[in-house]
Formats: sequence, C-alpha cells, structure tokens
Amino acid sequence: MTQLITSLIKPEETLILVVDDIPDNVQLIGQILAGEKYRIAVATNGKQAISIAEKSKPDLVLLDIMMPDMDGYEVCRFMKSKLDMSNIPIIFLTAKTESTDKIKGFEIGAADYITKPFDAMEVLARVKTHLGLKLAIDRVNEYNLDLERMLQERTKELIQTERHAAFSLMIQGIIHNFKNPITNLMWNSDFLSMQNAKIQSVISSKDIDALEKIDEICKNFEHYNSLIMSTLRQLTTMINSLMAKSRSDKSTVHEIIDLNYILNGELDFMNADLDFKNNIIKDIQLSDKKLLVEIVPSDVSQIFQNLIRNAMDALLLHTDPQITISTGMKKSNVWFKISDNGPGINQSIIKKIFDPFFTTKSKIGDETDNKPTGTGLGLHSCSEILKSYSGKIEVDSQLGSGTSFTVYLPLKNII
Ligand SMILES: Nc1ncnc2c1ncn2[C@@H]1O[C@H](COP(=O)(O)OP(=O)(O)OP(=O)(O)O)[C@@H](O)[C@H]1O
Ligand SMILES: [Mg+2]
Repeated sequence: MTQLITSLIKPEETLILVVDDIPDNVQLIGQILAGEKYRIAVATNGKQAISIAEKSKPDLVLLDIMMPDMDGYEVCRFMKSKLDMSNIPIIFLTAKTESTDKIKGFEIGAADYITKPFDAMEVLARVKTHLGLKLAIDRVNEYNLDLERMLQERTKELIQTERHAAFSLMIQGIIHNFKNPITNLMWNSDFLSMQNAKIQSVISSKDIDALEKIDEICKNFEHYNSLIMSTLRQLTTMINSLMAKSRSDKSTVHEIIDLNYILNGELDFMNADLDFKNNIIKDIQLSDKKLLVEIVPSDVSQIFQNLIRNAMDALLLHTDPQITISTGMKKSNVWFKISDNGPGINQSIIKKIFDPFFTTKSKIGDETDNKPTGTGLGLHSCSEILKSYSGKIEVDSQLGSGTSFTVYLPLKNII
C-alpha cells in the first residue's frame, strides 16, 4: 500500500522547504533532494520559513530545531495552528550531539526526525515516506469531501421528492373521498333506469290509471335527479380545490401574505380528508392580527402538512385524538404551532428528530398492518426550508401528554 502511494509521488511537482541557519547544511540537503529532482525552497531563519510556507504551501518541511530568534519548535507550533498549513508534514533536523527534546517535537505535531550528519539514503527514505503519507491523507480527505458533497446533493434531491410525497399523501386521502359520491351517482343513475323501465311497462299495459302512475314516476325522476346534481356539485368543489391546491403548490414565487390565510386554505384542503375531518377533534386558534410574511406559500404548506401528518400518525391509536392549531406574533416573528395529545417523544431521541433519515416509523415497503410509514425527511426538510427564510422550528414534548411544534418566520413590515 505504502509502495503504491509513494509511486504516485512526482518529485518535479513536489516542493520541499529546507530551513537551517547553517548554509552548509542547507547546501548538503539541497544536493541530496535535487539528485531526486525535488523542487526546493530555502529559508535560513524561522520568520522567513513561515513567510515562504504561507505563500508557497510546500509539500514537506525539513526544519532545523536550533536556530537563533525563532527556533524550530516555534515555527512548527505556528504552522500547526494555521488551518491552511497544519497538514504540511514537518521533519525536524537535529544533530546527534544536541540535547533536543524529541517527545516535545512529536507532541507539537512533528512527523519525524533526521539526525545530522545526514545520511543521503536515510533523508530520501524519510522524505518519501512522509510525502506518501501526506498524499494518502490528502486523498482520503478529498474522498470524504466528495462523499459529503454527494450526500448533500442526494439529501437535497430527496427533500424535493419529499415535497411531492407530502402532497401525494394528501391527494391519496382525498381521492379516497371520491369513492362515496361516485357510488351514489352510479346508484341513483341505476334507479333512473329502473324508473324508465317502469314507464315503458305502464305505457305498454295501456292501463286506465297510466297517467297517474307516470306522474308519480316522474316525481321520483326529479328526486333522483336532484340527488345526482348535488353529488356532482360536491365532486366539482372537491376537484376545484384539488386543482387550486396543485396550482399553488407548484408556484415558486415569493409573496407577501398573511400566515392565517395560508393556514385557513390548508385547513379547508385538509377537511377533504375525512380522517382529519371526522375522526380528530380540532381546536383552531388563529390570531385576529395580520401575520404578514414574505415567502413561497407552498413552502409553508409543506411544513404544515408534514407537521399535521406527524400529529395524525402519533394519534393513530388514540381514543380521543386532538390537534390544536394556533398562530400569533412574538417580537419580530410570526409563529404557528401544531400540538397533539399523542404519546409524546422520548427525551433520548428528541435531539435526533430533525436529522435527515431519522424515523421511528416503518420504512416504506416494510409496512405492517396499518402502521405509519416514513422516510425520516419530514422534519429535516421543514428545518431546511425555514433556514432559507431565517426562520426556525422548535419542539416541546411530554411523554404521555403530547407534542407541540412551533414554527417561527420573520414578520414582514410594510412601511
Ligand atoms: N407529533 C409527533 N409525535 C410523536 N413523535 C413525533 C411527532 N412528530 C415527529 N415525531 C418523531 O420524529 C420522527 C421524525 O419525524 P419526520 O417527520 O422527520 O420523519 P417521519 O415522519 O418518520 O417520516 P417522513 O419522512 O414520512 O415525514 C418520527 O419518526 C417520530 O418518531
Ligand atoms: Mg413526518
């Protein structure tokens, strides 16, 4: 492995800084390194060494310890304290006769020691080893950065997908509600056909009371027709609200808008979900003040839907499920709060709930019975969206009594 890495060293592209106040030493080391075609920079005191290192960022420093004014230890300590130089390996040069403290050198970050008088083979071997190590460390750091970048990009993509997932969950709930009116329509339409068959049979029987009978059947016609019309109106309202929602959710335009207005729209939309409408007690306490914010409205919708969906998941097994939705103003912020009376969140996990992919729910595809599923991106995407508006989200939870999430957004002042 080390051999593989050292074979990647290109001496003509590798700069080594040699620091020694004795010109003969500099010359000797210079010759040894030049023989292998390394590029060399030279400094004869500590200050000069730092100034060259700052400007040229050498790949390695060979540093004499005993120098007047600023000694090698000081130079080493300074370089290790600077972020842009701390990764440059430093090899100390020390005379066998000098009583130097080797441990101290390692403690302040030196990579190795070479003792004078110099043995050319030893100098080259140690230089090569430490250049190889640096190369390996640099590579690992690059891979880590690449991985981090990839992870961030992928998380961004998933947050985008999460936006669609939140919407499609709502749509699923609503589409479910189309079933009843459609069954009604089919049933009433069947009834009309039956009435029609009855008329035909009355006409063909040439019964003397035919007109009376037909009149009665016509009244039935009117009744079933009015049922059909009211069901169609109900469906049209549902379809219109879906269309309006999908239009507003697609928009990415910033608007100055009252937070209460967005939440009222969301509540209307949520009421198309019969589970939310009929099975959960709602306590709505929207402020009567105008809570102006400058945002893309669908961003607030996404946060709201995520929090409501989490509350509904938490209340799944509750006998008296309740959600409280309130809004208000505090200093230069507006806020909305969604509280549930669910089981609460354990203190041991509460710090992790905003982390990407943290979930206590079944993974999608692994679901059992009617247990809720999740990807663990809901709250993370809420906090990411809020960061982009200099807003924030806070959680307050008591085991056994419920959870509240409060979302803060900067109040928009209109002068
Ligand atoms: N109201 C709540 N009551 C109890 N636990 C909650 C509540 N809201 C969130 N949690 C906990 O926080 C975890 C993370 O929530 P988050 O919304 O980020 O992901 P998720 O709901 O699991 O999945 P999804 O990506 O589908 O939203 C949940 O799995 C749950 O354990
Ligand atoms: Mg969620």
